[in-house]
Amino acid sequence: MNVNDSEVILAVLDKGGYAQTENIEEADTILINTCSIRDNAEQRIWGRLDQFQVYRKQKDNLVVGIVGCMAERLKNKLLDSHKVDLVAGPDSYRSIGNLLEDIKPDKPKINVMLSHEETYADITPVRLDKKGVSAFISIMRGCNNVCTYCVVPFTRGTERSRDPYSIVNEAKNLWERGYKEVSLLGQNVDSYHWKKDGENIDFADLLEMVAQIDPDLRVRYSTSHPKDISDKLIYTMAKYDNICKHIHLPVQSGSDNMLKKMRRRYDVAWYMERVNKIKEVMPECSLTTDIIAGFCGESEEDHQGTLKVMSDVAYDFAYMFQYSERPGTLAARHYKDDISPEVKGRRLSEIIALQSELSLKNNKADIGKIFRVLVEGKSKKDENALCGRASNNKMCVFIDNLHKAGDYVDVRVIDCSSATLICERI
Ligand code: 5AD
Ligand code: SF4
Repeated sequence: MNVNDSEVILAVLDKGGYAQTENIEEADTILINTCSIRDNAEQRIWGRLDQFQVYRKQKDNLVVGIVGCMAERLKNKLLDSHKVDLVAGPDSYRSIGNLLEDIKPDKPKINVMLSHEETYADITPVRLDKKGVSAFISIMRGCNNVCTYCVVPFTRGTERSRDPYSIVNEAKNLWERGYKEVSLLGQNVDSYHWKKDGENIDFADLLEMVAQIDPDLRVRYSTSHPKDISDKLIYTMAKYDNICKHIHLPVQSGSDNMLKKMRRRYDVAWYMERVNKIKEVMPECSLTTDIIAGFCGESEEDHQGTLKVMSDVAYDFAYMFQYSERPGTLAARHYKDDISPEVKGRRLSEIIALQSELSLKNNKADIGKIFRVLVEGKSKKDENALCGRASNNKMCVFIDNLHKAGDYVDVRVIDCSSATLICERI
């Protein structure tokens, strides 16, 4: 999501006559795109801001700006810190050019207005991935779910879906420019909905429209919400070979108590029913997840529930976090952050250890299978090897000096680690 926001900002600045530089010492303007989802993300940004003060001392007219979620959440604190000249929230990127022009010494500029409509539909992002193989397309913004731990609805505002035709055009344009893969992005893609002039397009319809651009254009998406993922979507995925067989389905916890407190609006039985449906329709589909350890009041039994759901689903990969209280959220207002850092840390370690076992076991089960890999480039560890992902999103590495980024190559898995499939070309 953040990469795509940066690409939109670059497009706005490009139009305003700004040029990008790889060398920070050369820059007249430094913009930092920020995330507020966990406290450590914000702490890192404060650290970066301190570093940039050195450049500010060296260059009188250097402009330093904070854009994105942290700008939205901490506007006053940022301005009071005297470390920034610009504060722009996630819905005000169009105005960044004008704001930059008006900045005067000691007169920072700010725009943190959230919008009910802004989707940046008409802005063609400047792609940051220089390999030209894979691109992100934002299909919606904001979120209406208000999970109690989550700051996103406060920083990114209410949910709005982007015009499907602008999405398809963007994907077509990328395909014509040689891109081979697009990832459709939204906080909760299953609630994508476009209604206009009698037309009613949901996420499954949109996915199908993008998949039909060309059978060799791979389509991925993220993120699904377990309460909303529909049979129609699962069947649409199954129908098209070029829709990648991977679903990121954040479970967050394997305890009904915790899920209720998190306001996720499903229970473990519902989640498992959805997982079983996916496995029944697409046995080869990989499943990944997000997990939070140590949410408010989490008992040892709740934690065991999380380990159990992980084993039952047998995820291929997981993003795993300790609960981090975010000011202003429902959880911060109503529940005590009462699990000690030691217990949170221990539970997270157990979750990480289990996931690494599951990933290794799943990868071992892939040995002997044949996958079609979209080459991303040379392997970092071996000059003579290429790397790329299979449809199920697993990273494959294989010796090859014939192909290049953007090629499809069929490979057989011969060995693995918990993170990578070692393959041979067939
Ligand atoms: N603490 C820890 N993890 C969080 N996430 C969201 N908010 C928090 C929080 N306050 C995690 C969730 C979400 C992912 C993007 O970040 O697992 O799915
Ligand atoms: Fe946050 Fe929940 Fe929305 Fe995801 S669905 S962005 S966790 S509020």
